[in-house]
Amino acid sequence: MTTLTPVLSAHWDADRSWKLARYEADGGYRGLRKALTMAPADVVTTVKDSGLRGRGGAGFPTGMKWGFLPAPDGGPRYLVVNADESEPGTCKDIPLMMASPQELIEGVIITSYAIGCHHAFIYVRGEVVHVYRRLLEAVREAREAGYLGTDILGSGFDLEITVHAGAGAYICGEETALLDSLEGLRGQPRLKPPFPAVAGLYARPTVVNNVESVASVPGIIVGGADWFTSMGTERSAGHGLFSLSGHVTRPGQYEAPLGITLRELLDMAGGVREGHELKFWTPGGSSTPIFTAEHLDVPLDYESVGKAGSMLGTRALQIFDETTSVVKAVSRWIQFYKHESCGKCTPCREGTFWLAQVMARLEAGQGTSADIDLLLDLCDNILGRAFCALGDGATSPVTSAIQYFREEFEAGTHTPADVLFPPERSSLF
Ligand code: NAI
Repeated sequence: MTTLTPVLSAHWDADRSWKLARYEADGGYRGLRKALTMAPADVVTTVKDSGLRGRGGAGFPTGMKWGFLPAPDGGPRYLVVNADESEPGTCKDIPLMMASPQELIEGVIITSYAIGCHHAFIYVRGEVVHVYRRLLEAVREAREAGYLGTDILGSGFDLEITVHAGAGAYICGEETALLDSLEGLRGQPRLKPPFPAVAGLYARPTVVNNVESVASVPGIIVGGADWFTSMGTERSAGHGLFSLSGHVTRPGQYEAPLGITLRELLDMAGGVREGHELKFWTPGGSSTPIFTAEHLDVPLDYESVGKAGSMLGTRALQIFDETTSVVKAVSRWIQFYKHESCGKCTPCREGTFWLAQVMARLEAGQGTSADIDLLLDLCDNILGRAFCALGDGATSPVTSAIQYFREEFEAGTHTPADVLFPPERSSLF
């Protein structure tokens, strides 16, 4: 049986785990000391060889992303940590930053050294003021100890970190909207390409990495690429934080190798709440197509989850038992997407509005027999046509829920279509 592999979360339960002294006592900053003895290019190669894939959801290879930066031209280049965790059900980066902020800061320093950055930013969600405060305090401690500032540990390498609090918009987790927000503009996605690696913050080469990705770097430097690839699967290497929430006996963070299954995770989490059974779940937040009990043994790695019809995403495993109305759950998620759509592109702005209207009447049992086709048609017109991933994400719960639970949607359709759209009026439309 696969077991938990605490690496990032190994010391979260220690007394005042967030203090620098505690982190150092547990072996913290060994990765930085080692990295500073290596050439920056060798640090990039180690991370490439480790197979680490972006833990923010998309799973893009981290080392490859660093390698996309153009050759130095004497101007600044930036590292921006995306700490704007907002995907419904996703709650791994915030506990990481609260319990072990130095792990992230060490990762920021090593990454900055590798890519030649002297000013890094951590963009954190505005609502989580406690996390913002903890990061500010952690940066202050690291600076006083000589891990930040000029000539870090006598290496000649200089770095400053700015912690920036956003204002609580989901769209600002989209990397280019985040960069606009950081520049003081309204957070809306930019057209890609150019990718941030080429033209990012202030139009300079920029690496945008998720909190968990960056925090994984010190361990990779200490343990080596082979140690990391010894966990997980061939194409989905390493450990990851799996967030179990909802109708589960012991919700929380479970750190395990990629490729673990929900059945194994549920065994460790005490199972679905007593007396109930699994109905559906999300493998990676609400933007990924839902799974059902038939997917309990799908290995939670990028390839297997994709093959089974969903995405690994943020590994936010939201568990719903048989007492949950799938129509209500999807309707709630769609309200969220409608509210958070930035409005820049029509398919997402208008599409999420209409999805919410139709879902609300199905939820109220006042849908028409044409509504299921209407939902699918709307999704078809959003998917692949929106400016960023927000629109696509909104379609995932709808289409997958109809695929697995069509009868529950049909139960919400009490009005025959021709009452609302009588044949004699159809020429008007
Ligand atoms: P993406 O696949 O477009 O990009 C992933 C990363 O790879 C980006 O940093 C991008 O700049 C980089 N990249 C891709 N192709 C590149 C190229 N040719 N050259 C240089 N860089 C390249 O995915 P995106 O839109 O950044 O993220 C979507 C994912 O975000 C979803 O799968 C979802 O799981 C996740 N998500 C996470 C949330 C959270 O709270 N953590 C919230 C919402 C979505």
